Amino acid sequence: MPYLNKAQIQDFEEQGFLVLKNIVDETSLLRLKEKINTIIKRFELSELKVFTTENQTDVLDRYFLNSSAKISCFFEEDAFNEKGQLSVEKAKAINKIGHALHELDSDFEHFSYQQIILDIAKDLGLQIPSIVQSQYIFKQARIGGVVNPHTDSTFIYTDPLSCLGFWFAFEDARIENGCLSIIPGSHNMYLLQQQYVMNREGNGTLFRDTPHPRVEWDEGQLEAVEVQKGDLILLHGSVVHASYPNKSEYSRHAYVLHLVDLKTEWSKENWLQRPENMPFRRLESVMETLK
Ligand code: FE2
Repeated sequence: MPYLNKAQIQDFEEQGFLVLKNIVDETSLLRLKEKINTIIKRFELSELKVFTTENQTDVLDRYFLNSSAKISCFFEEDAFNEKGQLSVEKAKAINKIGHALHELDSDFEHFSYQQIILDIAKDLGLQIPSIVQSQYIFKQARIGGVVNPHTDSTFIYTDPLSCLGFWFAFEDARIENGCLSIIPGSHNMYLLQQQYVMNREGNGTLFRDTPHPRVEWDEGQLEAVEVQKGDLILLHGSVVHASYPNKSEYSRHAYVLHLVDLKTEWSKENWLQRPENMPFRRLESVMETLK
């Protein structure tokens, strides 16, 4: 059933994003935030094996690549001291949790596979929508770092492009705590310039230029998009966006889903590859099983 009206679809097509107010109710927000707390409490830092004799970069690369099919915790760069100990408490040092919350945690699965997401994805042209990754992003008070300007299709490449982001604000997102900033209409201004791919050895990642000429994004055109908790920002995969560091006293939690159209071809070079026993699932089919 259609969810968006014609004006909203047109707005999204022109701007490359759309804000929908009051989509997530308070009960869901509380339940999911509670679940996140449980996940953090259970998480053992030793899983990261950050300081071992093995090359630290190799360990972290493998941890990142494996997160495509796991619930993995990622920490702020500055969270560890020289001895490898956390310099702030675990719950305040975490940067994000990803990338298969929607597949492996029943609360997040129920939230992610819901009618409104299917309806919106179809409204915006995805014929066979599938959620390929989920991230719970913390943007911690005072230490939440910058996210440089990028397009999501760089990280989630399909042929033709089909990436669509659902950015659910779990807390108010203001300029002070590093809300999203977006260049309106940039999805129609620039061709995809880079792809974030797995390296040839399959043990790391790199950015690779596409054949399209490099054009500098006009970052002066980034506009802050402030939203309240419960709001949803829909993001076109080719729209340029960023977020500035959080210098405030308030965290800025968000739950972010990225969808693609399974009618397109998933690039085998994408950093995100699922193991054979955990293929991407049709959103619609999963919803049937959850009824
Ligand atoms: Fe993004």
